[in-house]
Amino acid sequence: MVDDLLTAADNALRTLSGANHASRPSPSASGDAPADPGQRRLSGALMRVNHVGEVCAQALYHAQSLTTPNAALKRQFDAAAREEADHLAWTQQRLRELGDRPSLLNPLWYAGAFTIGLVAGRAGDALSLGFVVETERQVERHLEGHLNRLPPDDAASQAIVRQMKDDEARHAASASAAGAAELPLPVRWAMRAAARVMTTTAHYL
Ligand SMILES: [Fe+2]
Ligand SMILES: [Fe+2]
Repeated sequence: MVDDLLTAADNALRTLSGANHASRPSPSASGDAPADPGQRRLSGALMRVNHVGEVCAQALYHAQSLTTPNAALKRQFDAAAREEADHLAWTQQRLRELGDRPSLLNPLWYAGAFTIGLVAGRAGDALSLGFVVETERQVERHLEGHLNRLPPDDAASQAIVRQMKDDEARHAASASAAGAAELPLPVRWAMRAAARVMTTTAHYL
């Protein structure tokens, strides 16, 4: 119990302080930012939204890893969380290159996502996995949308988003293969609504 609390606190601090290191090199070949200030701001806003998504991914996966009694599933959640830590570090670095900043509300997003992750975890492994499948699929669709919205001359952000999208699809597939239950429709609607609040707010804040 004490161990769990320390692990949770350590992860929250690491995520929120930006101390996470990527284990894979960033897919962006260059650190170039779009020359046009308007396009640079748009890239910054979109990558801030994606960075918030990855802050939430840390909170969700760690909460779900803490709550599962199944050791193999815990390893699966932890492995996915390590790939999400790459996403977190890449988007954070990209925000710096764009001369932009992470969301001011990150502690709030993290706390909210951690609570949701605990609830999903307590609902049992099948539903917890179902929650992962639904989340990752929603994120995948969201990232697909960003590939169309990012300025055409921001190849670096596009490369990062494309790799993240591939990774999220793989996370959904492995959660599905591990025995995910389908979530009830109202739960999926609620998740979509929560994601909309988060993405709309993080665009500006
Ligand atoms: Fe991710
Ligand atoms: Fe993922």
